[in-house]
Amino acid sequence: MTTFKLLLLPGDGIGPEVMAEVERLVAWVNAAGLARIETETDLVGGCAYDVHGEAVSDTTMGCALAADAVMLGAVGGPKWDGVPYEKRPEAGLLRLRKDLELFANLRPAICYPALADASSLKRELVDGLDIMIVRELTGGVYFGEPKTITDLGNGQKRAIDTQVYDTYEIERIAAVAFELARKRRNLVHSAEKRNVMKTGVLWHEVVTRLHKERYADVKLEHILADNCAMQLVRAPKQFDVIVTDNLFGDVLSDEAAMATGSLGMLPSASQGGADASGRRRALYEPVHGSAPDIAGKGVANPIATIASFAMCLRYSFDLGETADRIEGAIARVLDEGLRTADIRQDGCRTIGTREMGDAILAALDAAA
Ligand code: IPM
Ligand code: MG
Repeated sequence: MTTFKLLLLPGDGIGPEVMAEVERLVAWVNAAGLARIETETDLVGGCAYDVHGEAVSDTTMGCALAADAVMLGAVGGPKWDGVPYEKRPEAGLLRLRKDLELFANLRPAICYPALADASSLKRELVDGLDIMIVRELTGGVYFGEPKTITDLGNGQKRAIDTQVYDTYEIERIAAVAFELARKRRNLVHSAEKRNVMKTGVLWHEVVTRLHKERYADVKLEHILADNCAMQLVRAPKQFDVIVTDNLFGDVLSDEAAMATGSLGMLPSASQGGADASGRRRALYEPVHGSAPDIAGKGVANPIATIASFAMCLRYSFDLGETADRIEGAIARVLDEGLRTADIRQDGCRTIGTREMGDAILAALDAAA
């Protein structure tokens, strides 16, 4: 049996609480003889800054590069509001994405039937919703240079962020989207702002050409990013795969996530290109943040992180069947009427983080 090395980076806020439930699932997978997963735990974000003066240390980066996969909880919180910009907790996450070259961020927005009433949209709009947002993750305005604030000397300052994309960056993320669409409902929406941005013009041109050359069997729609945001709340089920740049992807994925009922439910996978041996670097994390307001109270929803672990099993360890079982256990627990506070519902029982972990483990055992 192959041994997989999994690096756990729980991070800040509710990160450690939700990651603790993943550790119990890892133990379950190992005990059931489904795989051999060795974990190591390290610091990222504000907690890393407190210890090392950096949001991620070089040693931790070394471990991340050596691991078969990385799982991250969440980073940030008001405690670190005053730290220098380069050392802020988010810088740790951004360095991981950049140095591991995780250019493809997959953010599924799935509405569990049991939760359709928890959405801020009407049930009929979201029941059965299943969208995959493919967000470019290592380029665009997040990393473009120059990125500066200069004092103009006349009482004014000037801030500059740079949105930059090269052809190859657009090509490789669009290819990921087309490949995924072929395994789903065969439809890709490519979202940009070609009406005001040069990067949007190039994005449109490259996606159109790639589609014609290699993916003509997939249905492609171009959509302006603002219209996409509107359509996501008007009629979200018209989408299958949405491919977009780093910043639009950040915004549109939060919007799509909320349509499903709770940000606390959604996992994500970030993947790099395949190396010579076919191995892809990958990092898995919940879409939600560190939720400092509820940190340490044992009430956070661990489902997004557990579902991220399922994605890790499927995409990095080729254990799709075990991933299916975990996702099935999540659905069953929701059907049984168990809810954490963020998805609380009349007629359902509200439970804490640990009890949700217990319930998912019990559902796995019951199905075994
Ligand atoms: C996300 C987050 C991050 C981002 C932050 C924490 C830097 O919002 O993963 O969506 O903007 O990418
Ligand atoms: Mg975000």
